[in-house]
Amino acid sequence: MKLLVTGASGLLGINLALEAMSAHEVAVVDRGKLSGTPFRIVRADLLDAGAVDSVLDAAQPDGVIHCAALADLEACEADPDLARRLNAHLPARLARACKARGIRMAHVSTDAVFDGSKQGAYTEADVPNPLGVYAQTKLEGEQAVGAEYPEAVVARVNIYGWSPSGKRSLAEFFYNCLSNGLKASGFTDVTFCPMLVNDTGRILVKMLEHGLSGLYHAVGPQPMSKYQFGVEVARQFGLDESTISPKSVLDSGLTARRAPNLWLSTHRLSTALGEPLPVFSTGLDQFYAQFQQGYPQKIRSYQQM
Ligand SMILES: NC(=O)c1ccc[n+]([C@@H]2O[C@H](COP(=O)([O-])OP(=O)(O)OC[C@H]3O[C@@H](n4cnc5c(N)ncnc54)[C@H](OP(=O)(O)O)[C@@H]3O)[C@@H](O)[C@H]2O)c1
Repeated sequence: MKLLVTGASGLLGINLALEAMSAHEVAVVDRGKLSGTPFRIVRADLLDAGAVDSVLDAAQPDGVIHCAALADLEACEADPDLARRLNAHLPARLARACKARGIRMAHVSTDAVFDGSKQGAYTEADVPNPLGVYAQTKLEGEQAVGAEYPEAVVARVNIYGWSPSGKRSLAEFFYNCLSNGLKASGFTDVTFCPMLVNDTGRILVKMLEHGLSGLYHAVGPQPMSKYQFGVEVARQFGLDESTISPKSVLDSGLTARRAPNLWLSTHRLSTALGEPLPVFSTGLDQFYAQFQQGYPQKIRSYQQM
């Protein structure tokens, strides 16, 4: 398949593109940050008039995986208009264009569409209730994709891994703090289901290959608190876990509200793919193996500024 990946200078896009290359011809959309990648770069700001059509004309893909977004919660609160244009209006335009051209589409959304008040795991049938601008606009985006192009697949993800900036993911935050002798705190009252971004990338490609349509939870199968996650990262890297202090998100001072429970059931997706999703410990082992093999440096080398 010829695949086009948006958001390639981001945490998910770059790792997904590298994973997909082993089986597919990959091109990516980038605004000007990347260079020297082993895949083709189509330069575009996707909010420019006509950009969606011109990148599809340039890449002629069979499938698009749309990772580009305003994914920083605080930035979304600061600029709701930009958040809506990127997270809701752009996916709608892309879905319309993909449908018109017969291109398969996977759209990436977030676990954060839920308010976290449920006891237990959320399924795809549960009704979202976004707590902030990021979550609200991401929900609008997934609904717009579903309305414009019902055959598209929408995946709610939660990811960690090595990013081009070196500081995009929570795992990098804990690693960077602890390896520099700094203290870190981790929320004990926020539960989530992290998945190594390379696994997420492989799964998103499989979802397109299998021709899945509709909404799926594509998160890790194991819920844990953000504090627990930090401790797991520290143990994996042989760093001092006692320098991570347990903290309540209510004392964080963050503007954007965080849902306390983002445990999402992955039953629908594992059934559709006919295989269990990768367990947390395997992903964390791979995250550490990547560190030993110089993968973080490789990822950062593609970013020119
Ligand atoms: N990170 C997480 O923990 C997490 C959790 C749940 C869901 N998600 C979802 O997963 C997806 C990927 O997230 P991420 O963490 O990889 O995001 P990220 O690292 O912030 O990357 C966002 C990407 O979007 C690109 N982009 C933004 N505006 C653009 C524009 N106008 N034209 C072209 N590209 C543009 C950015 O390019 P520039 O570098 O040029 O700005 C960047 O490549 C998003 O849909 C996000 O909502 C992420």
